[in-house]
Amino acid sequence: MVRVLGILGSPRLAGNTDKLLDRALAGAKDAGAEVEKISLCDLDISGCIECNDCYETGSCTIGDEMDIVYAALERADRVILASPMFFMGVTAQAKAVIDRCQCYWALKYILKERFPRLENAPARYGSFIGVGGTSGEKLFEGTMLTLKYFFDAIDAKPAEEFYVLVRGVDDKDDVLKRDEALHAAYESGKSLAQLK
Ligand SMILES: Cc1cc2nc3c(=O)[nH]c(=O)nc-3n(C[C@H](O)[C@H](O)[C@H](O)COP(=O)(O)O)c2cc1C
Repeated sequence: MVRVLGILGSPRLAGNTDKLLDRALAGAKDAGAEVEKISLCDLDISGCIECNDCYETGSCTIGDEMDIVYAALERADRVILASPMFFMGVTAQAKAVIDRCQCYWALKYILKERFPRLENAPARYGSFIGVGGTSGEKLFEGTMLTLKYFFDAIDAKPAEEFYVLVRGVDDKDDVLKRDEALHAAYESGKSLAQLK
């Protein structure tokens, strides 16, 4: 069974990003996947401190609740990062998690070891749900580059065709007026779970 992990980077629980992520996870579940969700605002996660311990070991020595995320990332076959745009990038909570994946970057590029996985596990893919209050064409542009390198570090192929990017939602329930976005999130989760 494919395992899909949804990581909620929004600090606003039950807001637009949370609702879209729930729809995506519902789609994945309906496609037969096992789903897991982590809300980063419930966890105490420090930023990366560039101690470079991971260059020797491939793992992080900080020892905080990022350990919960590491364990979930290593169980997952599909990873959906969901974040609103804050100042044209992902939230601080989501960026802390991305930066803390430096240990996987070190594992791959310095220690030349494989991402920790179970034998015969399905292919790994990464997807993204992004929302923003404005409608600018370039709203997600910078984030796309961050995601490319994040997914590379965690050894997940970016499933860009299933990214859900929603502009013009600002108040907490705005996305409820956007049936097409909720539908797209559901279908995206379903398709992601069905990828071979
Ligand atoms: C600190 C902060 C910075 C924001 N920066 C942007 C931004 O750069 N571009 C944008 O379109 N919306 C921006 N927004 C609006 C949020 O992306 C928007 O309200 C979104 O719907 C919040 O998602 P949520 O409901 O999941 O919390 C910002 C909001 C906050 C609180």
